[in-house]
Amino acid sequence: MNVLFATSECAPFVKTGGLGDVVGSLPQALREKNVDARVVLPLYNCVPGNFKEQMKYIDHIYIDMGWRKQYCGIFELNYNNCIYYFIDNKFYFNGDKPYDYIHLDCEKFIFFSKAVLSILPTIGFRPDVINCNDWQTGPIPVFLDTFRDNPFFRGIKTVITIHNLKFQGRWDLKGIKDAMGISDYYFTPDKMEYFKDANLLKGGMVYADKISTVSDTYAVEITTPHYGEGLDSLLRARRGDLVGIVNGISYDDWNPSKDGYITKKYNSRTFKAGKAANKAELQKEMGLPQDPNKMLVGIVSRLTDQKGFDLIAYKLEELCNGGCQIVVLGTGEEQYENLFRHYSWKYSDRFAARITYSNELSHKIYAGCDAFLMPSAFEPCGLSQIISMHYGTIPIVRETGGLRDTVIPYNKYTGDGTGFSFANYNADEMLQCVWNAMDVYYNDKDAWNGLIRQAMAADYSWNVSAEKYIDMYCGLTGLERPKAADLKKN
Ligand code: ADP
Ligand code: GLC
Repeated sequence: MNVLFATSECAPFVKTGGLGDVVGSLPQALREKNVDARVVLPLYNCVPGNFKEQMKYIDHIYIDMGWRKQYCGIFELNYNNCIYYFIDNKFYFNGDKPYDYIHLDCEKFIFFSKAVLSILPTIGFRPDVINCNDWQTGPIPVFLDTFRDNPFFRGIKTVITIHNLKFQGRWDLKGIKDAMGISDYYFTPDKMEYFKDANLLKGGMVYADKISTVSDTYAVEITTPHYGEGLDSLLRARRGDLVGIVNGISYDDWNPSKDGYITKKYNSRTFKAGKAANKAELQKEMGLPQDPNKMLVGIVSRLTDQKGFDLIAYKLEELCNGGCQIVVLGTGEEQYENLFRHYSWKYSDRFAARITYSNELSHKIYAGCDAFLMPSAFEPCGLSQIISMHYGTIPIVRETGGLRDTVIPYNKYTGDGTGFSFANYNADEMLQCVWNAMDVYYNDKDAWNGLIRQAMAADYSWNVSAEKYIDMYCGLTGLERPKAADLKKN
């Protein structure tokens, strides 16, 4: 079974959020289950040089983009037992970050999407399934429909995985039509038109054989107007083709017992000494008093309203005066960056923020904190709370999307649970939930340590979810579950 992941992000080459983690780890998990999974992504300028040096040039072709013809170099890298194809075009991919203004991004990912299909005859890999990810690859199923007379492409199935329905790649219909160079037939309201604009994600959702998203709860939520971002009616119409599969994490990248970034490695038996040492080091690094007894709450996030920062902003004064220390790592919207800068200045003895992107510091926060706050307005899956639990850092979350599916709320009667959660998008509820967590932390250490053990013992690997992806691919293609010999042949 051959599966090609088309993506705009893939760790460790390029990552701005969870999409990078997922495409950086799911293909490997599938390969361990004998699927020949490979990945194709843009060769951005910001891909680290050490990877670029190891890449092998395969060939180049030209892509028709309406009236333009664009160069498309093809590079290959064998990394971590998986094959990655990189699409080279200096005009589109020359920025120091993967994303730019939306109108520029629409054209560049239209180019990328067409390139993904166009390179297939050249690279000698015919996928049974192309797994597209988010709006940047939405045009692939649409282009595939226009390629249907070519026998090479006949029978290739497509899945579009929605990691975040909020981002859809919407732009002026004329501009998109011009860049895609396909007929007016595709730009009606039942296809790519969206309130007189064009919508690339919608194109993918109409033409893909299957739509998946990254948790069961989000798969249900997005069929409602509240979470549907204007596409809920389409999702209701395609409900039979919509599936939710929760994300896992890579135990190679995220593992407190072999994490090279943290001061002291630990596991579910040695977490007391391990977390205490990492906490002391984190407090020092963040310029906070090294108090082992103060509850330390962490946040690692894109600073956007999705993540519930309006609730945090509303209650930050009370949180800062409530008897804990808080550390924040993130970049994003200016209002939240400035809010956190202000509180770092005002409460420098208990609040510390680093307005930057740092993989290394994120590991130290996951390991060194006692709790992790993530009160999202919506959350397709969320990896930060999963990583936290794996590091024995107790998440405090809102019950939405993947947060609801991955965090088991603490039950004070049985001691069960892996975190704390609240239901409504309401700042008072969030604050009460933090107080509840704090109460257990300060007044019932046995219960708190039980939560840590339970959180660390749970299975967040790709094992189960990768099987579900395989079920989905088998259902689509009619192929049998792959066996060991199938992968060795390639
Ligand atoms: P999303 O994809 O919506 O941003 P997820 O929780 O799925 O949310 O994934 C976020 C990923 O990005 C996690 O691996 C998290 O550690 C990482 N991350 C977010 N912000 C930063 C940052 N400022 N520095 C380092 N890593 C970050
Ligand atoms: C998106 C979502 C996040 C999810 C990630 C990976 O960025 O916001 O909830 O975990 O994609 O699927």
